[in-house]
Amino acid sequence: MMGHTIAPLSEHTGAEVRGIDLTEALDSAVQARLNCAFVEHSVLVFRDQHLMPHQLLKAVGFFGEVFPQHNSRFALPECPLVHYISNQDFYPDGRRYIPGEGYHTDHSNAARPPKATVLHAVHLPDRGGDTQYINMHLAYDELPRETKLRLNGLKAIHVYQSRFSARRLMELSAESRSRVPDAVAHPIVRTHPESGRKAIYINPIRTEGIVGMPQAEALSLLADLVEHATQPRYQYHHQWRPGDLVMWDNRSLLHKANGDYDMNQLRYLYRIMLQGDVPF
Ligand code: SIN
Repeated sequence: MMGHTIAPLSEHTGAEVRGIDLTEALDSAVQARLNCAFVEHSVLVFRDQHLMPHQLLKAVGFFGEVFPQHNSRFALPECPLVHYISNQDFYPDGRRYIPGEGYHTDHSNAARPPKATVLHAVHLPDRGGDTQYINMHLAYDELPRETKLRLNGLKAIHVYQSRFSARRLMELSAESRSRVPDAVAHPIVRTHPESGRKAIYINPIRTEGIVGMPQAEALSLLADLVEHATQPRYQYHHQWRPGDLVMWDNRSLLHKANGDYDMNQLRYLYRIMLQGDVPF
């Protein structure tokens, strides 16, 4: 595939890929270049893609093995490894459910959390509904030295739904629950297996404590880390365009969906995840 370009979208996060048609096979040189760009920029935005679910499933296979998502309620019946994100779902009490609200990293309650998440726009609101990212490598790099020393060797406890989370997730069915671990512990500072860079690895929706630390102290430390990481200088906002397919690195970022748009307009995207490694 000749003539594609990869251009940074901000100083620290995101790159735009043009001239690639993901319905076609990618040769190994292009795959290698895209994988390098993915590790370097943490978010790849492929413009002008129009993929059906089975085409999306095939295309992401160039970047890794598919990770089965936890809540089967959102699976597409015709292609269950592909899920949907929609603003037209409601909690049992009638409140609207905005998937992805509140900073998080995907499925960190898995022993081997997904390395990447891919969203492909199907319907977008006229304005708003950005996906907002935090570069957790930069946030780690700029921590005070004494905080880095304090974090050394600490592990956070991740569960499906932290009882301290401000955001409520949709309940799991009994079948989904049987596939999800009760709790896992991951290092608070993880090393990217491909770049060797360190990142803060926490998840305000799923992190419930720190191994061996009194709860109040753990919650205070986690809250301080979130406050530090969510400063504007570590953020990148992705403004969706029709045809966008966005793949991001869960090992390097927090992200959230912004529910700042007209809810009478449909926001609907396909979602798929790629298997990662045990964080170290
Ligand atoms: C997600 O958290 O996976 C969804 C993000 C979004 O809808 O922008």
